[in-house]
Amino acid sequence: MCSETPAFEPAFLCVQCANTPTKCALTERRNPVFNSLQTASADAILGLIAEYRDDSRAEKIDLGVGVYRTSEGKTPVLGVVKRAEQMLIDGQDSKAYIGTAGAADFNAAMQALIFGDSSPDDRLTTIQTPGGSGSLRVAAGMILRATPNASVWVSEPTWANHVPLLGGAGVNLKPYPYYDTENHVIRVDEMLAGLATAPEGDIVLLHACCHNPSGLDLSETELRAVTDVIVERKLVPFVDMAYQGFADDLDRDAFAVRHLAANVAEMIVSSSCSKNFGLYRDRVGTLSILSADSKTRDIVNSQVNNLVRTIYSVPPDHGAAVVSLILNDPELRRDWINELTEMRERLQSMRRLLNDALIEKTPNRDFSHLVRATGMFCFLGISAAEVARLKKDYGVYMVDSSRINVAGITRQNVDYLATSIAATVESE
Ligand code: LMR
Repeated sequence: MCSETPAFEPAFLCVQCANTPTKCALTERRNPVFNSLQTASADAILGLIAEYRDDSRAEKIDLGVGVYRTSEGKTPVLGVVKRAEQMLIDGQDSKAYIGTAGAADFNAAMQALIFGDSSPDDRLTTIQTPGGSGSLRVAAGMILRATPNASVWVSEPTWANHVPLLGGAGVNLKPYPYYDTENHVIRVDEMLAGLATAPEGDIVLLHACCHNPSGLDLSETELRAVTDVIVERKLVPFVDMAYQGFADDLDRDAFAVRHLAANVAEMIVSSSCSKNFGLYRDRVGTLSILSADSKTRDIVNSQVNNLVRTIYSVPPDHGAAVVSLILNDPELRRDWINELTEMRERLQSMRRLLNDALIEKTPNRDFSHLVRATGMFCFLGISAAEVARLKKDYGVYMVDSSRINVAGITRQNVDYLATSIAATVESE
């Protein structure tokens, strides 16, 4: 047994016990830090990527992670993104750091896209962030700096990473009722009643559109009612907008943000360009904070930039530079809207296709909520055991909650998919 600092010469054997470093007892005692860790559980959504990849069945279907797919099952770079990237390669003359807030032209274009023409500029600050998740993480840091005892109220259910991301940053979380899993409708009255119990200064996280995971959004009337509770209770809305353009169109999908911005003193908005620009891995998003007055806006701006420096220093540039080129060039912008419309319409038609196929294959079960939802997701509405059987017996992959990404449906696989679902639910 070694008693002194081990030396692994020659041939990397310990000079005292003649063991390799991994077997030498002293090495073990000298490095106890990471030995205390246990294996972390696989991410509920990202874990499916590897499982699906490793499945050798030709007929397998991926309805897991939220990426758009074409009718050929591909997630290609948008044509307009390719063109803007070429312009960037030809014109970019430096890779020097951009500041903590990112690029001013990108931030201005995104702020206008999100808040519209009547954006309350003198009270708003918008910064470029590494994707929507980076934005949520900075928002969490700002909440902890400004109001550490406040709770953030999240819909039940919400995006599977909202709770670990915000909770992991140290923010208190509370649920409010949202989805009725029996009847596949929003529990609006319970949601309003739940929020009416929130103490002044608490924060309400809302999904701007294409609610992830349910795909069901509040109507404009319902959103107005939620806004009234927020105003009355002096709560702070925090809107996560990851799917602008995937429900109805760019402006209607921003209704929640714009209506709230017109009615409240303070709010937070996180946005993502992962889906609507297809820039997933390039990590492009924004964080906007609306303050009660312009003096506070300047203080918030200094704080958020200071915070960014302590987390990731400066955001990545490439994807945001591409988005800025597209949004600031009328022709590229028009072509982008056309590509976005094509993606949205394909998702809607795949919902109808699967619902029609299920009506035929399993007439005793009602799956009509599939076509009432918008965006990429909805719940299929089956049990976790049935989800597991679909994976094991048919190679059909979805999140355990039975959330499906309808982008994974094609005209070629819908019959197999509906047959597999029918066989699974009917074997109950
Ligand atoms: C999803 O919900 O599947 C996407 O937003 C991807 C992710 O990071 O979870």
